[in-house]
Amino acid sequence: MQGKRVLLIVSGGIAAIKIPDLIRRLRERGASVRCVLTEGGKQFVTPLSLSALSEDKVYDDLFSLTDEHEMGHINLSREADVVLVAPASADILAKMAAGLAGDLASTVLMATDKPVLAAPSMNVRMWEHPATQTNVKTLQSRGVTLIGPTEGDMACGEFGMGRMSEPSDILAALEAFFGLRPKSQAGPLEGRHAVVTSGPTFEPIDPVRYIANRSSGKQGHAIAGALAALGCRTTLVTGPTALADPHGCDVIRIESARDMLAAVEAALPADIAVCAAAVADWRVAEAAVGKIKKHAGAAPPPLQMVENTDILATISNAGNKRPALVVGFAAETDDVIKNATEKRARKGCDWIVANDVSPATGTFAGDDNTVHLITEDASDAWPKMTKLAVAEHLAQRIAHHFEAAE
Ligand code: CTP
Repeated sequence: MQGKRVLLIVSGGIAAIKIPDLIRRLRERGASVRCVLTEGGKQFVTPLSLSALSEDKVYDDLFSLTDEHEMGHINLSREADVVLVAPASADILAKMAAGLAGDLASTVLMATDKPVLAAPSMNVRMWEHPATQTNVKTLQSRGVTLIGPTEGDMACGEFGMGRMSEPSDILAALEAFFGLRPKSQAGPLEGRHAVVTSGPTFEPIDPVRYIANRSSGKQGHAIAGALAALGCRTTLVTGPTALADPHGCDVIRIESARDMLAAVEAALPADIAVCAAAVADWRVAEAAVGKIKKHAGAAPPPLQMVENTDILATISNAGNKRPALVVGFAAETDDVIKNATEKRARKGCDWIVANDVSPATGTFAGDDNTVHLITEDASDAWPKMTKLAVAEHLAQRIAHHFEAAE
């Protein structure tokens, strides 16, 4: 990163204590770092430590005569190759989305003409709050790149999505942004393309009502992120979820199973397909064009259902468009291995990740997963682990599969 200029905006969050390490790593790679610190950020890290590590002044005051004389907040926002907000609190994301400019950090973010990357950091409930999710989507639609967040134990004692990505991952994201990941560090899936489905599908009844499966999308998104982390070009086709886009993936958002199938087919050819979506098995044959009204005393409207096309089976039987490795999921409560083995044969895929969702495992909406990997000639029982760990194991297995095939 020799000569690259990073403007680092440090907002308030416990993860700010990891920022000195990030600055050190950036400097070691030859980047220059100039810090803007918010009032919240100062509660966790001091201007002095950031200044010592960046070997530069730390900017924190919008109305400082000296600073304006020396640099000016407009120049500050433009004399950089990239603006990195880390940690990005719920507050600064909201300010960015709303276009507020009441302090130096938000003003710089409004005034910059440089690419902006943000590494969110907050409590899981704050991350999942619709306000934050709407802000995140707004920012992404304006070209802001999110790094993380990740899932794990939080400083507040809770567990979930919202932890800031580790400095090493933020660094990797910056290197990828600058196109600087040296070939020697290329992941084992470099040059391959994967299509991953995730989340639920929404099947409309009328413009305001729909039928859906319960699905958080956590497992599918984690798999897409884990494949991308191994260098795979990854297209994630996802139904509606509250999750951030996994880093490094091309994300296509759809609602219905039919749209998911069309998006998957349009994304082919691919070397790998992983169908982790909880696709609705049925849709309403003819969704009403206008909202169906209730009439006092009248019977509920009958819903004529038709079966959705099986996306996994379709791509498993796609002839010369079939990806070399097709992986499906099976949610089972009983006879996990027998049912999943039959499903593998019936759908024509190569592997099935059999999800033990019996109540005793507590798997369904949780963060852990207990899976078996069913392949042509084996069934491996994996120990109970987080969905992130399942994703990483699966991505590694996929990489080994291709290495062995070569
Ligand atoms: N799948 C799909 N398209 C569908 C239905 C399912 O791609 N229209 C995929 C899912 O993404 C998953 C696998 O098929 O990879 C799950 O198959 P499914 O038959 O739905 O199995 P279960 O959900 O386990 O349900 P059941 O046991 O009732 O068959």
